[in-house]
Amino acid sequence: MKNTLIVVAGVAALALSAAGSAGPREDLLARYAAAAKSAGFTAERGRALHTRIFASGKPDTPACTTCHGKNTRSAGRTLAGKPIDPVAVSAAPGRYTDPAKVEKWFTRNCNEVLGRECTAQEKGDWLTYMVGQ
Ligand code: HEC
Repeated sequence: MKNTLIVVAGVAALALSAAGSAGPREDLLARYAAAAKSAGFTAERGRALHTRIFASGKPDTPACTTCHGKNTRSAGRTLAGKPIDPVAVSAAPGRYTDPAKVEKWFTRNCNEVLGRECTAQEKGDWLTYMVGQ
């Protein structure tokens, strides 16, 4: 009985330490959630943002998929034809681990596509979608 209790305590401690050492993507999502006062993010809304055609941005970049492509696990292409690594984390595991890079490109790409910055809610949804892809 005593041994069982010790094992249970050990497993609980392991689970806690795993939760405590969340990676940079989880940190980013937590930051966006706090900024958005969000009730949560959904991959579905992220996908909708990723594929939506906007008329409010630059005419030659109406959607995220213009450069990143429709298939998140395939390479994309800049307007100049330069290849872009896939945006799905399963296909490009190093993605979204540098918060400064993520923020820089969100700012730049959202301005081009939407004609404004993305909200924290939109960024959280989009990232949630890509993390699950
Ligand atoms: C004009 C082409 C273009 C469009 C349109 C575009 N992107 Fe990108 N995006 C890029 C390029 C180029 C990079 C940087 C190269 C890379 O990360 O592989 C990038 C990188 C990113 C990154 C950083 C990835 C990382 O590893 O940290 C995010 C986040 C991102 N894009 C989100 C978006 C979102 C959201 C949209 C739509 C609102 C969008 N992009 C539309 C070209 C584009």
